[in-house]
Amino acid sequence: QAFKEKYRPQFHFTPKANWMNDPNGMVYHNGTYHLFYQYYPDDKIWGPMHWGHATSKDMIAWKEQPIALYPDSLGYIFSGSAVVDKNNTAGFGKDALVAIFTHHDPVQEKQKTGKHETQSIAYSLDDGKTWTKYKENPVIQNPGITDFRDPKVRWFEPQKKWVLTLATKDRITFYSSPDLKSWTRESEFGANEGGHGGVWECPDLFPIKHEGKDIWVLIVNINPGGPNKGSAGQYFLGDFDGKTFTSNSKETKWLDFGTDNYAAVTFSNTGDRNILMGWMSNWQYANQVPTDPWRSANTIARELALKTVGKETYLTSVPVKELDMLNTTGFSLKNVKVKAQLDLTDKAKNKTGLFRLDFTTKNTADFSIVLANEAGNELIVGYDKAKNQYYIDRSKSGKIDFEKGFGEKHIAPRFATESNIPLTLIADVASVELFADNGLTVMTDIFFPESPMSKLSIKSVSGINVDDLKYTVLKPSME
Ligand code: FRU
Repeated sequence: QAFKEKYRPQFHFTPKANWMNDPNGMVYHNGTYHLFYQYYPDDKIWGPMHWGHATSKDMIAWKEQPIALYPDSLGYIFSGSAVVDKNNTAGFGKDALVAIFTHHDPVQEKQKTGKHETQSIAYSLDDGKTWTKYKENPVIQNPGITDFRDPKVRWFEPQKKWVLTLATKDRITFYSSPDLKSWTRESEFGANEGGHGGVWECPDLFPIKHEGKDIWVLIVNINPGGPNKGSAGQYFLGDFDGKTFTSNSKETKWLDFGTDNYAAVTFSNTGDRNILMGWMSNWQYANQVPTDPWRSANTIARELALKTVGKETYLTSVPVKELDMLNTTGFSLKNVKVKAQLDLTDKAKNKTGLFRLDFTTKNTADFSIVLANEAGNELIVGYDKAKNQYYIDRSKSGKIDFEKGFGEKHIAPRFATESNIPLTLIADVASVELFADNGLTVMTDIFFPESPMSKLSIKSVSGINVDDLKYTVLKPSME
């Protein structure tokens, strides 16, 4: 039965059955968060794409809804975004929800025309329940670029126009429009920037206020070419003038150094909040993960901000505050020495393995947080002081043999320079999300333990002092 199966996440969105990949069209409208997603309703492997649909009041408890968009004569429905057309620029109706997505034509793909991906729109006048595809689709024809997809649209107030950010092979192309129907190509970005070890997909563009001014963030997902192999999200910080994006970033930056946060983009229409959610899997093994009868989950929704460290500015992400609604019992500790091992299992009294751990220690020595179970599986989250790196090691975390690269140790740099190391760890049945240094370094990894990770300990060979620790048992949000 749904949500009771082995490996079923309890507070991360999963479809009841069958295949899911990228989150699409995430938008807040009339008090409801909408999540659409790449969905194949007939099997638990990737296939002809639909837009599945789920709704939530808080981005934590999701309710699956009927499928929103089905494939049609123009092709499968690939990734894209949704906006609220407050000024009725498209003429579909005031406050219409408008979805902008890629039509992927499998027939043309076989013929190798190089033009099989085009951009189309659809609208809903009943809060996303039913959708009407625009009669004159596609609204952007393909000029002959094989990978030409994943439109993310936002309103650009200074010039009163829509801006569309499109992944075009290993570049980003910007378009603009007064009405979401007729689009003008504005510029291209990326010839000399970022990683080019894979195809660019699922971009996003939005400003964040930082030290009194707007910094523009350009997210570019890439597959493969991630820092720990496979698919991952890179980002650039800079300026956008309605036509051209200029990057100020000197190095390639990553949203998440774990292997399981792909196609992450932000919700639209959330005011001053920038909220990111990704697909918690990786193209390296997404079609092989040992779950049944569904495949894939999403990450926890994360609030984005910017932080400057020395000369560089970084995106930070932390779980949205709405996650607190899952808090139940727990305990706190202050000023405890961990020499060798501090076993928290008895204090935690947590059979489910669903928890949140917040703690602060000084940057004095190596340490690790070990999730374990009766079967002897271990998932290790740690800090290596000499290398100044965080890591997640899932090599002994349970089922790993479905793909040869799955059971590995993943590493991430520490950017923070403060002597305090604050960590937040969010654990569900089959995932951990590490937010180190208030979200400056983030790692998301999935794993498949033989039984719930009901044991928890902190280890340090040379010893650390835990200044502050708070452990909270979380309850399921999906039933
Ligand atoms: C990213 C992606 C997108 C595409 C979709 C197809 O994971 O490859 O580029 O639109 O998935 O399902």
